[in-house]
Amino acid sequence: MVTSSQYQREPELGDGLRLHLNENTGGCSPKVIEALRALSPMDAAIYPDYGRVNDVCARHLGVDPSRLLLTNGLDEGIQAAAIAYLQRDPGAAAGAAAGRPEGLIAEPCFGMYADCIEAVGGRIVRVAPPADLAFPLDAVLAAITPRTRVIYLTSPGNPTGLLVTAAAVHALARAVPAGLVFVDEAYADFTDAHFLAELPGAPNVVVGRTFAKAYGLAALRIGAVVGDEAVIARLRRSLPPYSINVAAAVALEAALGDQAHLDAYRAQVRASKARVYAVCDRLGLGYWPSEANFVLVRVGGRATAIVEALRQRRIFVRDRSNEPGCAGCIRITAGVLAHTEQALAALEDILCAVA
Ligand SMILES: Cc1ncc(COP(=O)(O)O)c(C=O)c1O
Repeated sequence: MVTSSQYQREPELGDGLRLHLNENTGGCSPKVIEALRALSPMDAAIYPDYGRVNDVCARHLGVDPSRLLLTNGLDEGIQAAAIAYLQRDPGAAAGAAAGRPEGLIAEPCFGMYADCIEAVGGRIVRVAPPADLAFPLDAVLAAITPRTRVIYLTSPGNPTGLLVTAAAVHALARAVPAGLVFVDEAYADFTDAHFLAELPGAPNVVVGRTFAKAYGLAALRIGAVVGDEAVIARLRRSLPPYSINVAAAVALEAALGDQAHLDAYRAQVRASKARVYAVCDRLGLGYWPSEANFVLVRVGGRATAIVEALRQRRIFVRDRSNEPGCAGCIRITAGVLAHTEQALAALEDILCAVA
């Protein structure tokens, strides 16, 4: 069994252009590094307080602090939902259908959902994608059973970059009144379409965010889950009390204070995606216009060979060709424009050589 601590772990790659994990290719705000340098020996010696960073983050997201749970990366929020809803199986006490509690996922999707459902003893229910990889609302609704406890959605989706509409989220929430709809918005900072504002009308929906991507804090491990106060309290009880370390807490506050850094990076991502689309159009490669910081490109049957050829040049992209619906596809992170240009030039070179 693949455990959640091992998901997506690549062999250590060493130096190179990392376009395989949708990280920020330009690095975090320099204000984060300043804040980390300012930590004192006593800051390291005492158990951290989260009141201040929780307030700052809640203000940033426009929610009451009681509706926010900071987590050790969004991974931990995904895991908390699995523990709280799939392991304890609250439905059983209410006389719900017998059998293993089910976690529903629409493929292709982020690997942590299945890993977490399985790790807590839940049953994974997978919904296959349509050919265009659009979110299959009707098929997901049809896969709901009396044992469905959590539905994990991703918007923008990974690896597609496609959105799930608010109407679809509401429809699913209505279909599982005793369960939880977890809207993973890891890439929300790259789009204007969010579910956050809709949350007050959907008490059994939570939104997950990460500061790993747009804010460039992947190594510090900090994410957030927002939702109804009682649901958030239930998720909080699934986690250890000090899962966020002091470095992550001060880093988040500093990162949220540097709007200019975020805006500049988002502009690079937009420019990078435009370049990827232009090169794909020129080379006749299919792609999915993306609301995130990556693009899924259909390079055809040579996908694995192309990823390997790029790797030889120390350019790392993700082979997604074994994911449901993604035959022949690779996923390329779109970050700093110069990095994208470098990857595209290498891709074109390789494609011309094998043509
Ligand atoms: C859809 C999705 N959710 C969650 C995560 C994990 O975020 P974090 O690094 O904050 O744990 C990722 C990381 O790639 C992701 O793609």
